[in-house]
Parts: sequence; C-alpha cells; structure tokens
Amino acid sequence: MPQRRSFVAGNWKLNGSLATNASLLEGIVAGAPWQACDVAVCPAYVHIPAAVARLSATTIGVGAQDVADVPAGAYTGEVSAAMLREAGCRYVIVGHSERRTLYGDTDAVVARKVTAATGAGLVPIVCVGETLAERDAGTTLAVVGRQLSAVIDGAGLGALSEAVIAYEPVWAIGTGRTATPDQADEVHRAIRALLARHDATMAGRLRIVYGGSVKSANAAELFARPDIDGGLIGGASLDAGEFLAICAAARRD
Ligand code: 13P
Repeated sequence: MPQRRSFVAGNWKLNGSLATNASLLEGIVAGAPWQACDVAVCPAYVHIPAAVARLSATTIGVGAQDVADVPAGAYTGEVSAAMLREAGCRYVIVGHSERRTLYGDTDAVVARKVTAATGAGLVPIVCVGETLAERDAGTTLAVVGRQLSAVIDGAGLGALSEAVIAYEPVWAIGTGRTATPDQADEVHRAIRALLARHDATMAGRLRIVYGGSVKSANAAELFARPDIDGGLIGGASLDAGEFLAICAAARRD
C-alpha cells in the first residue's frame, strides 16, 4: 500500500479573536512538529487574512470552514471559493456535520461545494459521518457510503483526487466520546474500499482523516491505524500544546 503523508487540521469553528488567534498561532509556529505531516488551521472567514499573513513563511496551510456552492451572484452572506483562494486559503472544509444539521447542507449541496472548491484550486476536506441513532441502527457504513457517493455522482470522481476525506461520527464531535480505533478503522477501510471500486490508485493515495474528540491522549492510537491518515481537530486545536502534540502523533512518511 502506498505510504500517505499524514494531514492534521484544526477546525477552530466559531471561536477566537484576532488577539487570541495570534497567540495560538505563535504557539503552533514555535512548536515545529508539523514537519512530520501536512498541517492546516481553519479560522473563521474574517480571521483568514491574519492567519495567512502569519503563516506565509511556514508550511502550515490555511483553510476555510465552508464555502458557497455557487461562484457569484445574489447570495447574501456567502463567500465563494475564488474569494477564499484569493485570500490565501489552500483548503476548505465541506459538509461538516454542523453545516449539515444546523444549516441544512444536503448531500447535493455538499457535492456542489466540492465542485466549487476544486474548480477554484482549493483542496476540499470532505466530511462524512453518522449520527448516534444511525450507528445504533447499524447503518453507519450505508450512511457514509451515501454521503460519499453523492459527492462522486455530483462532483465527479476527479474532484476527489486531491481531496481529503474526514470521517467524523456526529456522536463523537465535541462530546469527549471518541470512536475507538477499531470503530474508526472499520469506517476508514470501508471508505477506501468504496473509492477503490472507482479508482484503486486514487483510493490508495487519498488521505482519510478522523475527527471527533481527538486529543493528545488518544491521537497516537488512532493514527497508528494504517487507514487513519491524520485528524480534523476541533476543541483540542484551540490549545497550541495539545494541537502540537496531536501533530507529533501523526504518522511520518
Ligand atoms: P472536536 O474535536 O471538538 O470533537 O470537533 C471535531 C470536529 O468537528 C472537527 O471538525
């Protein structure tokens, strides 16, 4: 199996100010273990320019947390992929469960956002994951498969070739309840197998990261699994020491 370079991203969600972000970034930049893997931070839209400026001389990328599913026009409040690219973003999170459940992003909308992101040269971090009810009903793999197939059908397989997939079980996000390495690994393997049915080479190269209550205490055992290529980190990414320790736990290439 080809070795993939690990990817760890911090999703700062609706947190931070210019001042707190600046000190968080100083702490992260001072740490340096990101050289072992690709690292990104995803601040709120208005905080992106400051993060890009601070990180421009580093290898740390900046991502947005969402993107419009259309390129331009009368869509008050939206931010386009081209705008994010021009602002210096390399990545964009698409289909986060908070967008799906709180803001009504359907599978079709997520597919259009992936199209918009890749069209503008952004790397989409495509989030998939089941709710607790879906896991309890035994439909985890069906749900994740549906979410992924919608992107493949809507955006095309090519749109995923440079993407990162984030498996984020909804019941593990912000709850302190992490998926066990076995639980996560099962889904990661299923995602790779689904993609391999379309293109085995691409599936072998694609990074599939885990998100949901990752912290320094559990990162290493998750990342040790061969199909878990890093993490999408919420709460723990707001603490430089925690985030650095999680980056340090990422597998080396
Ligand atoms: P937590 O790490 O806070 O559970 O959040 C995970 C997440 O939603 C990352 O996108």
